[in-house]
Amino acid sequence: FWATIPEGPPDPIIGVNDAFKKDTSKTKVNLGVGAYRDENGKPYILESVQKAEDILYQKKLDKEYLPITGAEEFTRLAAELAYGKDSKPLQEGRIAVAQSISGTGAVRIATGFLAEFYKGPKVIYLPNPTWGNHIPVAETVGIKVERYRYFDKKTIGLDFAGMKEDIEKAEPGSIILFHACAQNPTGIDPTQEQWKELSDIVKAKKHVSLFDMAYQGFASGDLVRDAFAVRYFVEQGHQIILCQSFAKNLGLYAERAGTFSMVTSSPEEKDRVLSQIRRVIRPLYSSPPIHGAQLVATILGNPELYQQWLGEIKKMADRIITMRERLYDLLVELKTPGDWGHIKSQIGMFSFTGLTAEQVGELAEHAHVYMTKDGRVSMAGLNEHNIRYFAENMSKVVKG
Ligand code: LMR
Repeated sequence: FWATIPEGPPDPIIGVNDAFKKDTSKTKVNLGVGAYRDENGKPYILESVQKAEDILYQKKLDKEYLPITGAEEFTRLAAELAYGKDSKPLQEGRIAVAQSISGTGAVRIATGFLAEFYKGPKVIYLPNPTWGNHIPVAETVGIKVERYRYFDKKTIGLDFAGMKEDIEKAEPGSIILFHACAQNPTGIDPTQEQWKELSDIVKAKKHVSLFDMAYQGFASGDLVRDAFAVRYFVEQGHQIILCQSFAKNLGLYAERAGTFSMVTSSPEEKDRVLSQIRRVIRPLYSSPPIHGAQLVATILGNPELYQQWLGEIKKMADRIITMRERLYDLLVELKTPGDWGHIKSQIGMFSFTGLTAEQVGELAEHAHVYMTKDGRVSMAGLNEHNIRYFAENMSKVVKG
């Protein structure tokens, strides 16, 4: 049956992990996938999560199926975290929320729903660059992918004029995907003033805004500040779609805990939307997994654990900032040609270094340092033990 199946290409992000695992060098460094590591390069299980695990264990809960749209306590608390407790549409009961298989699953539900029910142009505008997986998720359901300018190579900053122009030029009613904060891969976000301008353009053009919020808390260390764009758009009356992930901010990568949500115009409309969301989800995976959602709900619903979590987010964000400063200082000390200020000014988990695919290849081959081909470095993979080694090798490939 399968003799003619061609070999598929490795995943641009997850494939880096596989290459890293195969490498037997003792000095190897993995700066590929965006997953937090502690100061010893080890995965970090948050204490708040460990306490929640204990609480759940004591409760001896059953493993009955969840509703198709997930655990109610979880979706309620998750929506409050994203939109704010005082959010008007939330208080008015007109936000449709469904548990999702983390952020990717939420984007899949969103695009699946839009492909079937959206009456406007079935085209989604993604920033250039964006998280690689956005493209196949949209294309799988038959939504056409277009790009808007985002990264300016010259300034290593945001091409805001280009971004505005492209969103303005898009056919009215297009779907525009925004990274809510800590843009992946660039680590460059619009300012609050720029978000306000974007909101005006989106409104004038009657575009649909789809926010992917995978890093709430990771951009600034502050959950509320990181939700600014989402909350501002909602305040301005946009009926946004939101994809929320707890993979990074709670370190729950493999638990796949997230939500899809959509602001509607009335509780009655919300119910109708949810009835169709169930029809999108059911053939995909029937109903979502329970454990991650219970962990999140336990933390969000317990003031003590919540406070502890806030401290832990801050700790993760601060360690990454320290690594940014250390890397910058080392590159300067090593007289690396170029201006490396962006390593410090970019935010979130990644640094978009400007290294070329060729330089990335050299780093893997000669120094056993792994990152995605676009030159994105997961800063969390750096620590006091490997940062000088990395900086020296990075400096070497830049010098040529
Ligand atoms: C990443 O960009 O590294 C993460 O979002 C992990 C993934 O699934 O790609």
